[in-house]
Amino acid sequence: MNVAFDVNGRQVTVQVEPRTTLADCLRHDLRLTGTHIGCAHGTCGACTVIVNGAAVRSCLILAVQMEGAQIITVEGISDDEALTPLQTAFRKHFAVQCGFCTPGILMTAHALLTEEPNASEDRIRDVLSGNLCRCTGYIAIIHAVLEARTAYQTQTLSRVA
Ligand code: FES
Ligand code: FES
Repeated sequence: MNVAFDVNGRQVTVQVEPRTTLADCLRHDLRLTGTHIGCAHGTCGACTVIVNGAAVRSCLILAVQMEGAQIITVEGISDDEALTPLQTAFRKHFAVQCGFCTPGILMTAHALLTEEPNASEDRIRDVLSGNLCRCTGYIAIIHAVLEARTAYQTQTLSRVA
């Protein structure tokens, strides 16, 4: 089946089997390998991408459901020139160890802070509780997301102004 959608600002049409997950389509058909597959059944959050503004698990969605959708993957949150404030905060706080979980956590945090730039620490902990990290530990990740809030608050103000 053919399916057409926007990914990271680029309109694409891909031919996929009806059973192909979005995660497999992104990785194998579009070579966007920043989206990781850990559990492949919705538990770990490593495959999280943003679809029409919401953080979703791309291992649980079929690519053919994406007709007309706007998708952002970890490759789409920054350009090749500079890290985003969220990525910079992750580096500063050593919120990465092996990095396997990191794309999913970045996408979950990006979706949260875009919608809720004033998210409390409890809210951040609650939302990120669906993303499993097996090596960094969560303290550094929480500190990084808390620090990145300022950049999202500023963006919100400039959108309103
Ligand atoms: S790979 Fe999708 S939730 Fe684990
Ligand atoms: S940094 Fe290794 S699983 Fe999270």
